[in-house]
Amino acid sequence: MIIKPRTRGFICLTSHPDGTAVNIKNQIEYVKSQGEIKNGPKKVLVIGASTGFGISSRIAAAFGSGAATIGVFFEKPATEGKPGTAGWYNSAAFEKEAQAAGLYAKSINGDAFSDEIKQQTIDLIKKDLGTIDLVVYSLASPRRTHPKTGVAYASVLKPIGQPFSNKTVDFHTGVVSDITINPIDSQEDIDNTIAVMGGEDWKFWMEDLQKAGVLANGVKTVAYSYIGPELTFPIYRNGTIGQAKNDLEATASTIHSILKDVNGEAYVSVNKALVTQSSSAIPVVPLYISLLYKVMKEKGIHEGTIEQMYRLFKERLYTENGEIPVDAEGRIRIDDLEMREDVQQEVDKLWKEATTENLEQISDIKGYREDFFNLFGFNFDEINYDAETNEVVNVPSI
Ligand code: NAI
Ligand code: NA
Repeated sequence: MIIKPRTRGFICLTSHPDGTAVNIKNQIEYVKSQGEIKNGPKKVLVIGASTGFGISSRIAAAFGSGAATIGVFFEKPATEGKPGTAGWYNSAAFEKEAQAAGLYAKSINGDAFSDEIKQQTIDLIKKDLGTIDLVVYSLASPRRTHPKTGVAYASVLKPIGQPFSNKTVDFHTGVVSDITINPIDSQEDIDNTIAVMGGEDWKFWMEDLQKAGVLANGVKTVAYSYIGPELTFPIYRNGTIGQAKNDLEATASTIHSILKDVNGEAYVSVNKALVTQSSSAIPVVPLYISLLYKVMKEKGIHEGTIEQMYRLFKERLYTENGEIPVDAEGRIRIDDLEMREDVQQEVDKLWKEATTENLEQISDIKGYREDFFNLFGFNFDEINYDAETNEVVNVPSI
């Protein structure tokens, strides 16, 4: 197949197997260059392991700490004339590299919200690893079928209370425009979003793993959240998705109690805003990210998902003195550089100035686009995109 990028809105419909492999290799090289994470995890389950923060967590655990990893995700292999999804190719590339390095790596492809996939995962842990010492929960999904009731929930991205008007950008064209996003119609919008992106499924996973006896003594689990600046509060932290994040954060203490018997700990890590398949779907946020990238790159403090996840492991979850630094609400913060006052002040200033005419100059919209296409294996200099991709790439363990 000759594979070119094909986009529809904020979605890229195609992915390039050789390009995604370069992306994975680059992430592995970064981790190796940073050195070993002492006292790091050894047997890791990553739920949502194929893209974004999830694949980077898996790479940091495997190549930073020599961990055996099981990855759970929902992806599609290639079919006749149609490439597979980026997460499929990422996982194939990851497993190949892990196995070459002598690291155990197996993957489960299916709906992580279902009881069946939880059971399959437990069976695999029992068969191959016995116990797990870190569970990373990195799911991002627009919908969830509840495993107990069969009800299908769809999340919404809406403000609560009043309409929200602000600037937004179409990152393909660079056109900056004003948008108004109408608020929720009813409490149901909030409830549905919590049902999809709140903490219940994380709790179900940890309950099932605990009951099955596959959690090691001292197990840790971490899920990811976001706060961000005031300018995105109406659509993010104070909007429907923010209510789901509140629920996720509250679930950490519930899970803490569930893990008492195994002396386990549950954390939420607040991560930096980054270009992923999920964040590009949120209005207003891409413009914020392109300004943020500009400011953070100029200050030499920009990080991508792999830099974030390595730092999460090395400087938060597995510090040398064993202490985990948290904020007043008990959350791990690796959004510290994004939220620095000087960074936010400069982003604020640029935000007010941003127009279609000056966007290329005052923002890093180029870097945004680059990251977006890189997610799907495009825009890598190493790859000849006019050439046939030579093989059907499969995840070896599936
Ligand atoms: P992503 O879209 O790159 O990754 C989502 C992962 O979930 C993929 O591995 C996908 O296969 C998996 N997945 C989705 N539905 C599934 C299902 N039903 N069964 C099994 N796997 C499924 O998203 P991203 O951005 O890495 O998000 C991960 C977490 O990080 C989310 O909780 C998100 O809110 C959070 N976060 C993201 C930030 C960002 O700027 N991208 C910032 C801070 C937190
Ligand atoms: Na992820």
